[in-house]
Amino acid sequence: MNVWQAESFPVSLHFPRKVGESMRRPLIVGNWKMYKEPDEAVGLARALISAIGGMEGERDVVICPPFVCLQPVFQVLRDSSILLGAQNMHWEAEGAYTGEISGAMILTCGCTYVILGHSERRLYCAETDATINRKLTAALQCDLLPIVCVGESLEQRQAGRAEEVVLGQMEAVLSHVAARDALKISLAYEPVWAIGSGKTATATQAEEVHGLMREFLRQQFGRESAAQIRILYGGSVKPENAADLFAQEDIDGGLIGGAALNAETFAAIVKTTG
Ligand code: PGA
Repeated sequence: MNVWQAESFPVSLHFPRKVGESMRRPLIVGNWKMYKEPDEAVGLARALISAIGGMEGERDVVICPPFVCLQPVFQVLRDSSILLGAQNMHWEAEGAYTGEISGAMILTCGCTYVILGHSERRLYCAETDATINRKLTAALQCDLLPIVCVGESLEQRQAGRAEEVVLGQMEAVLSHVAARDALKISLAYEPVWAIGSGKTATATQAEEVHGLMREFLRQQFGRESAAQIRILYGGSVKPENAADLFAQEDIDGGLIGGAALNAETFAAIVKTTG
């Protein structure tokens, strides 16, 4: 049984408690990428529960381990309020797609969230805006909460094309989303040049893009929905830079890679949100 079968939609967990431009409930997501075997993942999940120690009450905390770790980690998380997410899914519910896994399957492992369109998947696994769009539709259909990643490369930024690239990706991926589904989606701005590189966008650089993304959401889904959709920043977030980033008006949390692999470091980032 997964969280969706176990209870009705946990509205208070996923939507801001107060309505207002800067009152979105923070969301911190750990993307474990292709690190941690099941035993290590269970150990890290346990360490996280004690390091975070109830702080997740004030924000949503999600961890996204590799597929083979989802079930064992869910067993550890079920008595905490840390939620589980997957790093990817296929757009079909089932079928002859060797090596793939569907939204329905990750749901049965206890996932609430799914990361879609991460730049590493765009780069190494030939994902395109079109396939990400199909995955988004499928995720919404099975009531997973998608975290859609967008971001420009260094070359694109240096050519002054960051805005065009990010908004183009949003347009391509979000154009068919119905207004009623918009609030289930979170976005993550992850400048490709900042991922795993130790180079973080400055809070001002990140906020500039987040502001444009918020404006896009206003035009696409209306002012009220846009004010509630969370936009995360990702790319070399660490305890030292997290507070500055999360203090920005349109930065509602983070998608954390390397720093999510250590319980103390991840907990220190979580703490900066409250
Ligand atoms: P990083 O990764 O924090 O290691 O830069 C972020 C991500 O890829 O989501």
